[in-house]
Amino acid sequence: MSSFIQSVTQSRVWKSFFRHGWPDDELNRSLIMTTNIFFHLHPVKVSRRSLKATYSFGLGIIATILFLILTVTGTLIMFYYVPSTESAYQNIVHLQTRVPYGQLMRNMHRWAAHAMVLVVVLHMARVFYTGAYKPPREFNWIVGVVLLVLTLGASFTGYLLPWDQLSFWAITVGTNIAGYAPLIGDDLRFILLGGVEVGQNALTRFYALHIMVIPLALAGLVSLHIWRVRKDGGLAAQQAAEEPLRFEQEDA
Ligand code: HEM
Repeated sequence: MSSFIQSVTQSRVWKSFFRHGWPDDELNRSLIMTTNIFFHLHPVKVSRRSLKATYSFGLGIIATILFLILTVTGTLIMFYYVPSTESAYQNIVHLQTRVPYGQLMRNMHRWAAHAMVLVVVLHMARVFYTGAYKPPREFNWIVGVVLLVLTLGASFTGYLLPWDQLSFWAITVGTNIAGYAPLIGDDLRFILLGGVEVGQNALTRFYALHIMVIPLALAGLVSLHIWRVRKDGGLAAQQAAEEPLRFEQEDA
């Protein structure tokens, strides 16, 4: 039996799948990390403390998963939605009442959007409280700030699309607030609405921003953000904070 296992693990087919030996030395452990598509997202060596679930609460990953859920459910909703002031509201009513699983799709999209805003804010707070914004991660912090603005932008632009009373007045109030920004306020409001009031031009612009511009920017920047985490050596967990943990383990 053992010679059979040995011949299988020595075969060319096996070696074409597993390009490393058992993870019982440093070399093989690092080869496992670099030759696997999923593992290679992690640095070869990470801080022990950063592996604790309560260190990051997985909030960045949860935000990424919510973004993926929003992309899938949003694409399905697009099959039934036309961004016209004549039909948008009816499309949504139709989606909710006639389309199989339509209500589920819409609710998943809505709840994932609310959750993403909450999770991204919590993620930012976690990064702040663990001091992970400090060098060399300051660039990733800036990328994160842009991601936060884009996440809020996606929520804001999506809010108009059902074209009901709530959407109409929320965006009227929202864009009026933008109009109070110093110097650029009036122009900003005009550019957002494509005019002076919330109407077809505003719906067209919000739709383009919501389904194309913001998701593409988010997808690109989330990739950059996660790649940067990898290049900065995984999650930040200071050495000083890590030492007591090692002693605790040795004492045990
Ligand atoms: C769309 C929104 C965002 C997504 C999808 C996202 C995703 C991630 C992921 C997957 C990680 C690694 C795992 C983790 O920390 O849980 C991470 C780390 C990080 N994120 Fe975000 N993030 C987002 C927004 C933000 C924001 C708003 C900030 C701050 C302004 C930020 C700053 C950082 C920093 C500095 C790290 C490195 C943390 C460390 O080394 O401990 N991110 N992010």
